[in-house]
Amino acid sequence: MSDRNDRNTTNSTLAQHVLHALETYQNESEQGHISTLLQQEPEFLNREMDLAKWIREGGLNLDNYAKFLTPYLEHSQHMHHPGFIGHQVAVPHEGSAIADMIHGVINNPMAVYEMGPTASVIERVVVNWMLEKCGWFTGAIDDFSPNLKNGAKNGAKNGAGVLTHGGSLANLTALLAARAHAAPEAWQNGTPDNLAIIAPAATHYSLARAVSIAGFGQNAIRYAPVSELEVLRPEKLEQTFLQAQGEGQKVFMVSVNACTTATGLYDPIDEVAEFCKRHDLWLHVDGAHGASALLSDKERHLMKGISRADSLTWDAHKMMRTSALCAAILFKDQKAMAGTFHQDASYIFYNTEEEGEDKIGFDAGLYAVECTKSALGAKMFWVLAMEGEKSMGDFIEKQYGDTRAFYELINAQEDFTCPYKPEANILCFRYEGIEGNDTQMTLREKVLARGDFYITTAVIGGVRYLRLTVMNPLTTLDTIEKLLAEIRLCARDVSG
Ligand SMILES: Cc1ncc(COP(=O)(O)O)c(C=O)c1O
Repeated sequence: MSDRNDRNTTNSTLAQHVLHALETYQNESEQGHISTLLQQEPEFLNREMDLAKWIREGGLNLDNYAKFLTPYLEHSQHMHHPGFIGHQVAVPHEGSAIADMIHGVINNPMAVYEMGPTASVIERVVVNWMLEKCGWFTGAIDDFSPNLKNGAKNGAKNGAGVLTHGGSLANLTALLAARAHAAPEAWQNGTPDNLAIIAPAATHYSLARAVSIAGFGQNAIRYAPVSELEVLRPEKLEQTFLQAQGEGQKVFMVSVNACTTATGLYDPIDEVAEFCKRHDLWLHVDGAHGASALLSDKERHLMKGISRADSLTWDAHKMMRTSALCAAILFKDQKAMAGTFHQDASYIFYNTEEEGEDKIGFDAGLYAVECTKSALGAKMFWVLAMEGEKSMGDFIEKQYGDTRAFYELINAQEDFTCPYKPEANILCFRYEGIEGNDTQMTLREKVLARGDFYITTAVIGGVRYLRLTVMNPLTTLDTIEKLLAEIRLCARDVSG
C-alpha cells in the first residue's frame, strides 16, 4: 500500500514537472525567443533522446526526465511561435490540451456508449451543434429525441454525424455512404465497376486514396475542369458527366473543396448543388479546412449552398483551435449515415436492433471506420466551453481578415507577387527578384534553415509559390514584414 502511495506521489510530481516544462515551452515559443524549427537529421535526434536506452532499461523519473524531455521539446515544431505560418494544423487552445490530458488519464474509448458514456454524449451534442451550422439540425442540440420527434419515420429532418480521427477517414466514410446510397448491394457484392465520381483536380489526396481503398480504382475519378487557380468550373460539369456516361460510367457523386488545400479558394457549392439536383447525384463537400467559415457571420457566404449538400467533412483540428485529431463527417440525412457500415460483433454491439434508419444510437463505432476511438468531441467541447461559439467565429474572422491584410502588404511590394486575393487564411506568393521555378523552393529551404519562420510551398497551374497558412493568432503584419525582409536576405545569398 505504501509502495503504491509513493509511486502515486512520484508520478503526480513528474506530471507536474512536465506541465511546468510545457508552460515554459509555450511561453518561449509565443515570444519567438527560440526557433520555430531547426530541422535535424533523425540520427541526431535519436542520439539526443537516447531512445533505445530508455526502451531497454526504463527508469525515466523525476530526476532524469529532462534528459529526454528537453531535446524532445527543443527539436519539435514550435506551433505557438508567431513565425509558424506553415501547415493547416491548429495552434492548440489550452482547452483541447486539458481534454487530451483528461483522456490520457481516464482513457474512455468510445466505440460503444458503455465504454465512454460522458464522451459519447459530448460527441452527440457537438455533432448536433456542427449540423446546426450546416442547416441540417433544428431543435435543441442537446435534445436526443429529435430523431423520433421530427420523425425519421416521417422522413428524417435532422442530419447525423460522427467524429473521426482525421478528415481523411471522414472523406472515406462519405464516399462509402454515397456508395451505399447509389449501390446498396456493394457492401455484399463488391463495388460495381462502372461507378464514378466527379471531383476537381485539386481534390485532397485523401479522397483520391479513398476511391482506391473502396475498390473503385483511380479510373473512377473523372476530374472536373478547373480555372487557372484550380477552382472548379460548374459550367463544365455537364460535359464531364456526359463524357463519363458516354464511356459507360455511372456517376453517383460529386465532391468539391471548401476550401482547396493549396490555395484556400472555395469551389462554388451552390452552383454544384444545382447540377447535382438535376442529375440526382450525391454532393460531398470537403470542408476539412474551410467549413469553419460557417461559424462567422462575415465569412459564411463562402459556404453558400452547404445546406443542399449531402455530406460534409469538417476538421476541428484545423481552424477550431483543437489539437490533432478531431474531425467530423456530417450527413444531411441520418439514414445515409445509418446505411454506411454493416458489422457483426456480438462481443461489443448489443443494441443493434434498436439502431438503424429510424434511430441513430450512441454506439459511435457503428458509424465510423474506427473501433476504438478517442474522446474526440471532448477536445472541441473544451475549447468551446472556454471561449463560446461567438469567439470561435471571431477567431475565423481574425485569421481570414489578417490574411487579406498580409496579401495587401505582400502584393504592394515591387519584388513580390500574389496570384490571387485570399478567401481563407491560405496565401500564396512569389519572390520575383530572381528567375527560375526552383527559386521558391530554394528560398524556402534557406528561410527554414534560419529558424525564424516555418512556411511551405505549393504548385498552382504548374508554377511553384511560397505558401502561408495563417493559423497562429500571434502572427501579425510585423511578422510578415520580417519574413519578407528575410526572404530578400536569402535571395541575396542565392544570387551570390
Ligand atoms: C481539403 C482537405 N481535405 C482533407 C484533408 C485531410 O485531413 P486530415 O489531415 O485531417 O486527415 C486535408 C488536410 O490538409 C485537407 O486540406
